[in-house]
This record gives sequence, structure tokens and C-alpha cells, in this order.
Amino acid sequence: MKSEKKSKLGFSTKSIHIGNTPDKEFGSISPPIHLTSTFLKDSVYKNRGHDYSRVSNPTRDRLEQNLAALDNAKYATCFSTGMAATTALFQLFNKGDHIIISRNTYGGTYRMSMNVLLRHGIEFDWVDTRKVENVEYAIKPNTKLIHVETPTNPMLEICDLENMSRLCKEKNILFSVDNTFMSPYGQRPIDHGADVVMQSSTKSLSGHSDLLGGVLTTNDKELDEKLHFILKATGAVPSPFDNWILLRSTKTLSLRYQRSCDNAMKIAEWLNKKNLTKKLLYPGLKSHPQFLLAAKQQLNPNGKRIFGNMISFDVGSEEKRDVFLERLEIFSLAESLGGVESLVCVPYDMTHAAVPEESKLEMGITKSLIRLSIGIEDYSDLIDDLNSSFS
Ligand SMILES: Cc1ncc(COP(=O)(O)O)c(C=O)c1O
Repeated sequence: MKSEKKSKLGFSTKSIHIGNTPDKEFGSISPPIHLTSTFLKDSVYKNRGHDYSRVSNPTRDRLEQNLAALDNAKYATCFSTGMAATTALFQLFNKGDHIIISRNTYGGTYRMSMNVLLRHGIEFDWVDTRKVENVEYAIKPNTKLIHVETPTNPMLEICDLENMSRLCKEKNILFSVDNTFMSPYGQRPIDHGADVVMQSSTKSLSGHSDLLGGVLTTNDKELDEKLHFILKATGAVPSPFDNWILLRSTKTLSLRYQRSCDNAMKIAEWLNKKNLTKKLLYPGLKSHPQFLLAAKQQLNPNGKRIFGNMISFDVGSEEKRDVFLERLEIFSLAESLGGVESLVCVPYDMTHAAVPEESKLEMGITKSLIRLSIGIEDYSDLIDDLNSSFS
């Protein structure tokens, strides 16, 4: 396909066709998986495009083209997990450099930063990124990266991407966004000025809870080369099989993500009306303090507001939490999110176990805070399951 035509394609067409051209040998419509660790060389200095699968692999190349196109980016680097992607992003920096991160970020990002890279001399500050002024105040002469999550996990706090990007450009600081919760269907941070987008493809991108993966996308060629170099040097590559499954899965991202968000909106409205919880968080509810900001920057590829497939609420006590979890039949108690099946988790003891108690409580992550990941089941069944589980 000519590159001029490629750039005009709609999101769903890109998700199905970019990286998925039929193979040259037999014309298979579903592309082949190159399950190989190494490649035949014609001579010491001549290969046929690939040497060794840690460095590059045809199935990974296809996936990288596909994921870059979905983010409206030129380049993508794929990793074995979301954490491997975030680690590689932070490894762009050196001893003595300073990184600012959203205070309410995924617990694993906190664990990796404070227990691994801090020991290697990188400095971190955890800031409430709902206000750009807070970040401006935290900038130091050695600040090299501002990394935000929006909406955050699990408190669904929103960061103003355009204003944050303006600040980063003004101060000459790299700006990266963890877009895992929204997926490229719900939010495309590069269009708002982000330099790098990070995603755990374990979540909505793959959507079937059957693989682990991570990806970094950018429009900056030099940056992409550095990220590919870190991937090659450190080796956290995804397997050809996982690359293939993910390439197959993004074909249905539009359908899955839209449906899960439509379900989430109906469930959040129902929870709100029933007034069953102590605190209810969903960016699509007018009661969410940043509803207008979410409505401005979280748009599906057709320009319609979309508020994500995650809902958090507090049931008020550990006793009520346990009864609620025990009674659920369709929602499964499990880590992770973004799959076709609905999941429930208790961030305090599960996804955010690594975050110090004091910080968790300051952000409202109590032992009775529940996080729902809404799937694509019939929403009436999900509502029935929730209804019969509140005590
Ligand atoms: C927002 C967010 N970022 C990053 C990650 C890490 O991704 P992975 O589990 O694929 O390493 C997660 C995992 O839950 C997440 O929720």
C-alpha cells in the first residue's frame, strides 16, 4: 500500500491491514509466524534482512508497524511486558538524572523505579499530575523526563496532556504517557504533543488475557533507535508467538474497546443511581472532578467522547469488601485489566502492594477500594452480578 494512502486510513482499517500484508511466498491472508531464533546468512556480511531474533524478527516488525500506526506514530519498539517497556524508557537516562512521575501510577512502576533504578542513581519524584503547576514546581535542573499516567491506576485521575506537553517543550524535558488504560482507540497522546507513548499490551491492546507485552511509540527516529538499541542490548523481547497473537488481536480492538466502554458507562451510571458505594470514580460521570478534561482529550477515532473500561469504588469496610468479592460470580478476582472478561481487584493488596501504605492512603487507595475492569459481556448480566453482591 502506498504511504500516502496508508496515512489516510481509518483506525479500524489500519488495525486490520497495517503490518498484515499477505506473505510474499504463498499469499497467506493471515501472516506467518517466524518461530525462529536465528536466520541463515548468505555470507558473513550479507543477511536476508534479519540475523537473530533478539535483534529483530519479521513477526515483530509487522507488529511494530501495526502498533505505531494505531498511535499515529512513525515508530514502535515492542517488549516482553509493559514493565520491560517502562524500564527501557527510563534506561534512556543516566546516574544523576531526575524523572517526575504521576504519584498515582501502577504499583509496578513504583516498585521498579524505587527498588531498581534508584539504586543505579536515577532520582524520582512522585507528583500529583492533575495540576500542571505541581509538576512545574517539582522540576529541577536535572529533570530529564516527565512520565504521566492518565487516567491513573486505580484512582482515575486525569492529566491535561496538551498543557503538560507545552510545559515539557518550554523546559526542554521529554514527555511520556502511560496510555494503558485508554488504549490507542480511546486516546492518542502523540496527537496532544507527547514524545513517547508507553502501553502494556497485556491489557486492552491484546484484550484476551492470554499474553504479556509492552510497547513504546514515538515520532522521533533517534529516540526510536536508542530504544531499539536498549531492547537489543538488554534482551526483554516478546516471543514471535506473542507478537503474532497481539497482531491478530489488535484487529478487533475498536469493537472490543468501544463495547467495554459502553458497558462501563452503563454500569457506572447504575452504580451512581443506586448509591451503593462510599466513593465512586468513573471519568464519564459528571460527578468526576475532571469530567470535562476527560471529555476533551479522551476521544475515540470518530471524535466521540470515551471514558474507558475501568471503574473504582470504595465499599467502606474490609467486611463489606469480602462479602462483595465472595458473592460475585461473573467478575473474577484477578490482577490485570482490559480483557474481554470482567475482572475485579483490590489495588491496596494486589496491583499496588509495592506502594508504601502512607502514600496509598493519601491517594484514597484503602483496603476497601475495589477496581473493576469491565469486559464485553452483556451489561445486564454484569449489573445483575454486581446487584446481588452488594450486602
Ligand atoms: C497502567 C499500567 N502500566 C503498566 C503496567 C505493567 O504492564 P505489564 O504487566 O505488562 O508489565 C500495568 C500492569 O498492570 C498497568 O496497569
